[in-house]
Amino acid sequence: MESIASAPGKMILFGEHAVVYGEPAIAGAVNKRVTIKITKSSTNSSIFKSDDLGFEAELNTRNKRYISNRGKPGIIKYILEILFRFHDHSPIVIDLSLDIPIGSGLGSSAAVTVSTLAALFNYHGKKFNKNYLAKKAHEIESSVQGIASPLDTSVSTFGGLIYLSREKKIFKFTNKLQSSFVIGYTLKRGNTGKMVKSVRSLKNRYSKIVDPIITSIGEITDEAKFAIAHNNQSKFGELMNINQGLLDSLGVNTKELSRMVYIARKAGAHGSKITGSGGGGSIIAFCPTNEEKVFRSISKYDNALKVRFSNEGVIVQNR
Ligand code: MEV
Repeated sequence: MESIASAPGKMILFGEHAVVYGEPAIAGAVNKRVTIKITKSSTNSSIFKSDDLGFEAELNTRNKRYISNRGKPGIIKYILEILFRFHDHSPIVIDLSLDIPIGSGLGSSAAVTVSTLAALFNYHGKKFNKNYLAKKAHEIESSVQGIASPLDTSVSTFGGLIYLSREKKIFKFTNKLQSSFVIGYTLKRGNTGKMVKSVRSLKNRYSKIVDPIITSIGEITDEAKFAIAHNNQSKFGELMNINQGLLDSLGVNTKELSRMVYIARKAGAHGSKITGSGGGGSIIAFCPTNEEKVFRSISKYDNALKVRFSNEGVIVQNR
């Protein structure tokens, strides 16, 4: 039996980092997905492999170790944590394919976590619903990253456009923003855990300064919720630009991200900002018009991708 599950990547529109401290955030699933296929291994070892990543490793599921001489993809930590907690240690093969660039800020780790958990539960014939899956996926992310909000894993599980409230409630809302987004990403990968820790350290050292910045990002997110509800595109773009300034002040911007942000605005994006944890990774440019121009301008220096929102969350199937 092949147990297959896929989950979408996400783009955070507003509220990254602040969401870790209880502020709201808005994020949407995108039409780029991760797929995990689990089969019984024909040998005595469990294997994790991905042709898309050019990676293969033998896994020791009991002590969260692996042997490979082909690199160290960050997502392997999530896979090992899942197998350690939820697998009976029988030999399996986990095959990952993806059309999300890893480390690009589009939530590949959450999408890998959600799809691996779903494929594994299904492999073991375990019944689960999406709320349970989102909860367990969040636990895995928190344990690997040290600290994580439920935002990325919720979006990858439920799909659609999501507002995560201060009370950690998920609201899926109708997307009135009929617009395209361009993602710009560098090959310098972001490390979510590291960036979350560096913001926490800044907040600890300068709490009187940083706390109001975090609160302001929360206010921006709430304003943006209204902008989306009223399809107010100019306000939405302006709020993205303000949010970008505050993310910069939290120290998660880089020279490359900044360059893409300004190239996008110059090419006619209505707003542009880092999406995800920063420190590498990607930016989003809001392009109700000028999508092609923004795409081409970013592509001259970095990588660009046109993305759309997707309503589709995790999908499980057997073959
Ligand atoms: C990472 O995609 C988003 C952060 O807010 C971390 C989190 O929410 O866990 C930086």
